[in-house]
Formats: sequence, structure tokens, C-alpha cells
Amino acid sequence: MTFAPTTPTTVNDLAWLGEHAASRLPRDLQLTADGPLVATIDAEVARLRTLAAGAPGSLAVRDLPSARNEGTDAAPLDELARAGAEAYALRTRGEHLELIGAGDRGLLYGFYAVTLGLTGATGGEWRIHAPAQSIRMLDHWDNMSVHPVMGQVERGYAGGSLFFDNGELREDLTRVEHYARLLASIGINRVALNNVNVHALEATLLTTRLPQVERLAEIFRAQGISVLLSVSFNAPIVLGGLETSDPLDAEVQDWWSAAADAVYARIPDFGGFVVKADSEGQPGPFACGRDHADGANLLARALAPHRGEVFWRAFVYDHHQDWRDRSTDRARAAHDHFSPLDGRFDDNVIVQVKHGPLDFQTREAVSPVIGAMPRTRLAVELQVTQEYTGQQKHVCYLAPWWSENLSFPFGPEGSPTVAQIVAGTTERPGGVVAVSNVGADEFWTGHPLAQANLFALGRLAWGPGLAPERILEEWIEASFGADPLVGEVLNELMAHSWQLYESYTAPLGVGFMVRPGHHYGPDVDGYEYTPWGTYHFADRDGIGVDRTVATGTGFIGLYPEPWASLYESLETCPDELLLFFHHVPYTHRLHSGKTVIQHIYDSRADGYERVLALRPRWEQLDGRVPAALHERVTTLLQEQERSAEEWRDQLRAYFFRASGIADETGRRIW
Ligand code: GCU
Repeated sequence: MTFAPTTPTTVNDLAWLGEHAASRLPRDLQLTADGPLVATIDAEVARLRTLAAGAPGSLAVRDLPSARNEGTDAAPLDELARAGAEAYALRTRGEHLELIGAGDRGLLYGFYAVTLGLTGATGGEWRIHAPAQSIRMLDHWDNMSVHPVMGQVERGYAGGSLFFDNGELREDLTRVEHYARLLASIGINRVALNNVNVHALEATLLTTRLPQVERLAEIFRAQGISVLLSVSFNAPIVLGGLETSDPLDAEVQDWWSAAADAVYARIPDFGGFVVKADSEGQPGPFACGRDHADGANLLARALAPHRGEVFWRAFVYDHHQDWRDRSTDRARAAHDHFSPLDGRFDDNVIVQVKHGPLDFQTREAVSPVIGAMPRTRLAVELQVTQEYTGQQKHVCYLAPWWSENLSFPFGPEGSPTVAQIVAGTTERPGGVVAVSNVGADEFWTGHPLAQANLFALGRLAWGPGLAPERILEEWIEASFGADPLVGEVLNELMAHSWQLYESYTAPLGVGFMVRPGHHYGPDVDGYEYTPWGTYHFADRDGIGVDRTVATGTGFIGLYPEPWASLYESLETCPDELLLFFHHVPYTHRLHSGKTVIQHIYDSRADGYERVLALRPRWEQLDGRVPAALHERVTTLLQEQERSAEEWRDQLRAYFFRASGIADETGRRIW
């Protein structure tokens, strides 16, 4: 299914910043502040006023100096100043709101929070709002031209690139302006513009096509967002004509310094570089006999004089594995490569770690790398684009899954969670990075309901403790208003949609089972005999990957207690991760009381039935949500039904043939 790009300024284009937001903004608004983003707020107010008249009551927006001048109590202002420039203070007295921004971005975030209704009443007390994560970044996997295999946007399910078309920057960047305001409204402060797999054309964004980056930087800057580029580690060779990209070579170091200087001459607030090195064919320091600290520090030193940062990805593994070799475990790879380097990265390097040890699966364990690098700045990488979670054809609200990962404690109860670890310290902050799900599609995300994932990503990066159900309600109200039926139906469709997707796809944490290449739809053995290191090892007797210390790859031993013991033992390993950690017979009994095989049969059949219940519910919203949006979702729900049926039938048939064990419910197996 491909979706055509649209002309700008339709209602859909404004997503959650449309008429409902406009009608929430108090009519009486005074803005007493200085700074580069004040013009943005002004323009935003003007834009919103064209959509709706606004709410009764008043909003006074001030920056810190004017709040001090006007005699606001010192205590909350001091606290606000300590909370950092992105923070804001809010006080509500009935319909009267007062907002103070600690800095430019704080002002903007506070303004958007009021507009989106994210603040809540404060009963006349000042309340300080500050982001938990300093780094709140989206990575675009956009190519400039259509890649023969991966398309315009790698793993993109929302049409072409918002930025690029036909090998160059788009002429009309109106939608990028909308996009920037949508991102700022959920607190995103960095955007990486191009795919981590850097092809020849895209490599030139760093040099000859830099003016295109500059134009995008101007647009994002107006919303307090800095831009970054994905760069090729071999840029000194492919762009600079050098013979090596060795990090210890003086000419290579000079080349990177000069490249960085040239970027900052045009874009003084440029964010830095994102690097995928020695991974899935991308060049890296291994070829020169250097390690990843050498590689990352090379770029970090070129950026340091300009306060730029390197986001160095930990997604490094051998993609030429031999499936017959049971000792190599892809899940171990990032830990094996990176944990020995802890403490060797420069201060402006952030190691960017996928949340799971494999690859953005619907279910997998938390990456042990996150707990293993206390002396390194870290960012956890999430995937908003639904590569393995239904490709924006299935409804799959991912906030519960991210929330579960972010709140995982590395150690006994009370130990720092993933969110706390990556947040780092004020001096050495880290954060959350996520692969964007947005494209040129008229609904931004292909599936209109996938907008909720983008929204939730921003909200969780700001406040990892926010409840996914609450975020969903925020998104529904901001996007569709307060119609109770809309709220009820969307909640029913979305709140547990991740668990629903899991129920009819790969079982019990085993992962993959998707068609190779594009990764959509079922193919149990699709990756089984390939070099990619993603196996389920199903045979006539059992299924799952033995990652125990006792008899398997030893991966479980990379976790601290109590997790190492908990995962190692079949008695305590959680059902949903059983096959991620263990190889068990089909007759193994889960904590749920069912055998593994019966769980596979039941869950897929029941999951499909639950999918069938979605469309009739959605039909009830006909006429209550924009017609084009209604139609798009209807079409996609039909595809979800078709696909869920395919998953059900293939998996049930496959495992019946493999095990020879009948489904005790007698339901049909093909
Ligand atoms: C996945 C995805 C690739 C992507 C890679 C990455 O493997 O399928 O398209 O390049 O992740 O994160 O680098």
C-alpha cells in the first residue's frame, strides 16, 4: 500500500495541534518575554486563532527576568531556574493561567503544554515542569532518493520523505514547518535528518549538499530543535579522497575537523553526528584495527570545539553468522563490543543503545548494555516506526511496551531504571532517541492512529513515569476533542493493541518469524537458516533459544541479580520471555497453566477473533471523526484482519506439523 503525499494545511496536517488545541488556548493572552522563540509563540497563537476562537479565561506568559521584575515570589523562580532552561512553571487559578519559562525552550514547551491541555490544575500553587531526559531526539531513516531495496524511507510506512524528493531537498517545506511544531509541542529537541545507512548521495549532505541541511536547520531552529546528520565513517575516503579512515591518522583527524568547521560556519547550533559503524555493512573502525571508542572519539574531537555531540550506535553484530553455530549469540554482541569500552568515550559521545538486545521486536528482553556502562553517556533507542509491530497497517499503540522497558530496574527493586540510567547527570546527560514513523503521507504516519505513537514517544521522553493510558487520553482529546464515544472507541482499539499484536504473531518472546527483507507478515522459517543470527530453533520436540548460563549461550549471565537467576530458572522466567531465554519442549507448562503448544494455538486463534471485533467498533465513529481519516482506518483494519488471519493459520499449521500435537480445543488447523 502506498500513500500519496498531500497538499499542506488540511486539518489532518495539524494532527494534535489543530482546532481542538486552538479552542483550548485562552482568548486573553499576554506575552511578556524576550528571546528567539517568542516570535514562534506569537506566530503559533496567530495560527491557532484562525482555527478556533479559544477558551474563556486568561494566560499570562512570562520569561524569568520579567517574572522577577513583576515581583513574583522568589522561591518558585529560584526553583525554576535550577530546573534548567527547558523547564517551565505553571500556576492555575480557575480559568486563569500563569506560565513562566526558565529559558527559551521552557517558554515554548509551557505554551504548547497549555494548548494541548497537558498541565492539569495546580490549585493556585506554582508547579515546576522539567523534562526527565535532556536528549529527546528523533532519527529519520530518510534517503534522498528512492533506494532500490529500502525505498525512500528505510522502514518507512508513511509515504516518501518529508524532507527529500528525487534526490534533493523538497522545494515546498511547509509540511516540515508543521512537523517541527508538532515535535516541539511534545518536547522533542533534536532531529537527525537522514538514514543511519548512509549511501553515496546522502553522504554529501555533510559537504556539497550542506545548504540543504542549513535550510532544514532554520525551520527546526524556530521550534527549538537542533538538527543532526548521519555520517559515514568512511567519509574521509568517499568524500575527501583520502586512502584511509583510520581514527589515529592525522590527515583523517584534520579532515573531520575541517568538515565540522564548515558545518558550524553555516549552522552554529548544529547538533552533531549519528553513526552506525561496523554494522550491517556500514564501514567502521574495525577495518583499521581500531575499536569503537577510537572511532567515536575521532568524530567527537572534531565536534567538541563547537559543542557538537556524537551519537554512536551500539547496534554492532555479525550479520554473516553461520546458523549451524550455536555458540554465537547476536543478543550478546553489543554487550561484548561495548561494555569493555566503558570509560573510554569522550564527554561529547553518547552511546545509543537499542532497548532490546536483538532488534526492536514486539517482545524481547531489555538490553544488558544499558546497565553495563556507568561511565558512559547513554541514550536508549526506541523504534516509533512499526517495522516489527505491524508496519502502520496494524493498530499497535507502543507506549505500554516502551514504558515497560523504561521502567526496568537494573538490579533489585529500587535500583535505577533504564530511564534513570540513560538520563545521566546534569553534567553528563543522556536520553531517549527514537526512529521516526513520519513521512509525506497526508496523515503523517500512514495509519492515522500511529500518530499516537509519535505523541507518546515525546511524552515518555519528557516524563518516563507517565502512564501510557493517560498519554493515550491526552492524545485522543488533543486530536479529536472531548466526544465521549470517540474516547471510548479509541481506547478500546488502542490501549491494549500492542498485546493484541503480540498475541497473533511470534510467540513468547521468540521474535521474528517475519518475511525476510520487508519484515511484514508471517514466515516462521523466514530467517531460520540465514546469516542474520535470529533463530527460533523449532523442531519436532521444542522451540526457543537457550541463552542460559548452564547450557546455553550464557547471555543471561550479563544481567545483574535478581534478573540473572530469575531468567535462568524455568520456574521464574516470565512466560512472555520464555522462548527468548529458553529452549523448551512443546509440552512445557507455562505459569498460565497452558502448555507452550496450546498457548501458541489459542493465542493466535483468540487474537484473530479480537481483531475481528475492532472494525464494528470503529464503524460507530463514522461521522464523528474526519471522513478521510475514518476511511483510511477502515481500510487498514481490513488489512489487519487479513494479516492476523494469515498469522493465525500459518503459525497454527506450522506448529501442528512440527509437533504432531493436536489443538485440544479442536479448532480448525489447515
Ligand atoms: C534493523 C532494520 C534496518 C536498520 C537497522 C538499524 O535491522 O531492519 O533497516 O538499518 O535495524 O537499526 O540500523
